[in-house]
Amino acid sequence: AKLTPREVWTSDEGTMARETALTRWPKIMQTMIDDVETTFSQSENAEHVGEGRRIQASLRIMKEEIMGDKPLHPLNSDGGADIEGYNAQLAGFGHITWHNCPWMFAECYLYRFVQTLFARSQLWRNYDIFARQKLSAFLASHAAVEELSERYMSLAESLTTNPDPKAAELAFTELTSIALWGNATDLSLHPDINDQSKLQSLQGTHTIQNQDRIVSNDLPAVWAYLSRNQAQPQSQHQQSKEEAPKKHIAIILDNTGFELFTDLLHTLLLLDLHLATTITLHVKSIPWFVSDVLPHDIPVLLSALTNSTLFPTSMIANPAVQAVAGRLREGFDTGKVKVKEDGFWTTGYGFEEMEGRAPGLWGELRGSEVVVFKGDLNYRKLVGDRRWGYGTPFREAIGSLGRGGMKILALRTNKADVCVGVDGEVLERVEREAPGGEWVRNGRYAVISFSDGSD
Ligand code: F6P
Ligand code: MG
Repeated sequence: AKLTPREVWTSDEGTMARETALTRWPKIMQTMIDDVETTFSQSENAEHVGEGRRIQASLRIMKEEIMGDKPLHPLNSDGGADIEGYNAQLAGFGHITWHNCPWMFAECYLYRFVQTLFARSQLWRNYDIFARQKLSAFLASHAAVEELSERYMSLAESLTTNPDPKAAELAFTELTSIALWGNATDLSLHPDINDQSKLQSLQGTHTIQNQDRIVSNDLPAVWAYLSRNQAQPQSQHQQSKEEAPKKHIAIILDNTGFELFTDLLHTLLLLDLHLATTITLHVKSIPWFVSDVLPHDIPVLLSALTNSTLFPTSMIANPAVQAVAGRLREGFDTGKVKVKEDGFWTTGYGFEEMEGRAPGLWGELRGSEVVVFKGDLNYRKLVGDRRWGYGTPFREAIGSLGRGGMKILALRTNKADVCVGVDGEVLERVEREAPGGEWVRNGRYAVISFSDGSD
């Protein structure tokens, strides 16, 4: 058997991991320190202000500890069932410091540590430290929201008038690509994302022309699998008075705002194409990697779409935007689209551990037509954030997850050190285009990887 490579550590020279530990984490900590200050300085409740100051002081200490390469210490209990697991993992790594630790674990630990500060308080328990940033980045995306709403509505309408399999495949490919590139704009990589011109280069329908920047693309196999029964027309079921078979798709969401909006358009299309009868959107339970979706982000997004005090009036007046908002509300109201939380998503474990540590979740996902994993961190957790050779097959890198029957589709723009499934020729080309491993980290390249889970 081949050896499994070790994980990426923040001590590995020349890696995104190292750069993150040295420069990105201190910046992210500073945005948290500033956000808490903005909130308590607007508060008139002395107790709230006092607690806010104490939380801020702890965040400052944490920032100093990261910058000073201090050891990670066990988390204080806040009643969460996951604390024990974090501390056991930490003990398992022995003595680790911020600049010499497994990147994936330490970064999860960082967000979980911050959550203990809020969870242990009285008045800040449900505080979302990234809510401000998330909303303002979404509002700055209005041009793309408008453009994509129009595009989705025109596709959806033409599919109703012309339900042709080729048109269905094209629409599927387009909306899946839009959801893929929606991942390019997360706030932990782009803290300055409110810059309109930068945003527009990353968003909108033109991004689907980035095909040759998808360094590994299993989308044709995904379509072949998902559409395998499309040959029997819906009317056959109607004739035999049978109900259409129930098909469930799970989407493990990543970031809120613009990316979530693209995932919701993708969701609508999967339902329109009868590739699923129900879809569950999996969200995080605590503020996570800055911009990940929390349960409240969904109503925030839906109401922003109809609220002209937030978005420009011209956008709110756009019938396509309102039609999309209406379809989404209907999806949630009828239960075709559901939202689900699970504590496993915010543990420090890779997804190979899901079967043992979150068997209920694992069983549910395994029973789905396909499980779509969005984004960079989900991808790192799928492949264990290990130093795989770029040519390693995706199915090998996901270990036992590739054999347990779960159908896995990863849609990820490359923002870390790990990447698998890349052919030699493609690798040569991208190394020329974006040398020094830039193509694995700059968010301009991507992968669409599929495993059908068969033995
Ligand atoms: O900083 C770590 C990291 O996982 C990066 O790899 C990535 O840029 C970001 O956080 C999160 O990306 P995503 O939102 O796509 O998971
Ligand atoms: Mg994210």
